[in-house]
Amino acid sequence: MTTLETTRLTTESLSQTEERLRTRPAEHRVVTGDRPTGPLHLGHYIGTLANRVRLQNLGIPVTVIIADFQVITDRADTGPLRDRVRTLIAEYLAAGIDPERSVIFAHSGVPALNQLLLPFLSLVTDAELHRNPTVKAESLASRRSLSALLLTYPVHQAADILGLHGDVVPVGKDQLPHIELARVIARRFNGRYGRVFAEPEALLTTTPAVLGADGAKMSKTRGNTILLGAGEDETSAVIRSARTDSLRHITFDPVTRPQIANLLSIVAALTGRSPLEVAQEIGSGGAAVLKARTAEVINESLRDLRRRRRDLLADPAYLDGVLLDGTARAMEVAAGTLDQVRRAMDMDYFRGPRG
Ligand code: TRP
Repeated sequence: MTTLETTRLTTESLSQTEERLRTRPAEHRVVTGDRPTGPLHLGHYIGTLANRVRLQNLGIPVTVIIADFQVITDRADTGPLRDRVRTLIAEYLAAGIDPERSVIFAHSGVPALNQLLLPFLSLVTDAELHRNPTVKAESLASRRSLSALLLTYPVHQAADILGLHGDVVPVGKDQLPHIELARVIARRFNGRYGRVFAEPEALLTTTPAVLGADGAKMSKTRGNTILLGAGEDETSAVIRSARTDSLRHITFDPVTRPQIANLLSIVAALTGRSPLEVAQEIGSGGAAVLKARTAEVINESLRDLRRRRRDLLADPAYLDGVLLDGTARAMEVAAGTLDQVRRAMDMDYFRGPRG
């Protein structure tokens, strides 16, 4: 299946999935995660964080994986990982992830997930892995030769998802090929050894990707990013420097006026309105008013989050405790899955004869 087909299928089933989640939240498990490559920014907040909190608050158990081993898929250096992981946890909690109801854990702390990797690797061919568009794109972007870790990255991710019995995976479009592969692996495993896994579904993020202040992808090196942890003045400065165009009247036109549309989309997403409405409201106020409004809305929306983030970062022992506790809970689930897998594969020698 091509990525496009996957995208269409997933989008079509989106409202049905939402409906099922709403009616029987406790029967589902959301598994999602991030690579701890740096602090989160506004794009993460609008695109994924807010949605995770929403799903959690619907009553669905949410498991968030800090995919630390995945950091080295496209780079050799892990960076200041311990700090990054702590910051990430603080940002999750500040955004509203509740450690009493949800699980936050580190991949490296759950060896059972890596053990699942071996049987899963036997279920995919190297041609399938080489065809994966996200692997190809990341490999090209890294300008390094393709490591076996990057090549098999979708399989590790399948182990994360299936190992934790995730049946709903909220992701951006770039991750769809991985979810598709997790479904293939679940299907093949069940076909070969008997039914153990449900086929997970992607829950595609519906908010458009937030661009940086210059209209390009948000990235730290471009200086166009609004970090969740940025101060209010810094945020206003980045928005003030945002590129716009020479047309005075503000209209929402993502194709011909992508930078203006980006600012409008940010305001819209954070205030729960449509970008068209916001554009009409600003109209002849022009770019200066739009920028002032955008900065104000961002700073207001993030004020509480930023305060909580600061407080949480001042208490690293608490953050470490949240991780330890979450990792213990994830370990229990994954060990259970590994037991099921061993049993299905007739490898459960250590448990004595089956009853
Ligand atoms: N690869 C994902 C990303 O870069 C992170 C991730 C790891 C993930 N394991 C996962 C996402 C399991 C969803 C489910 O964003």
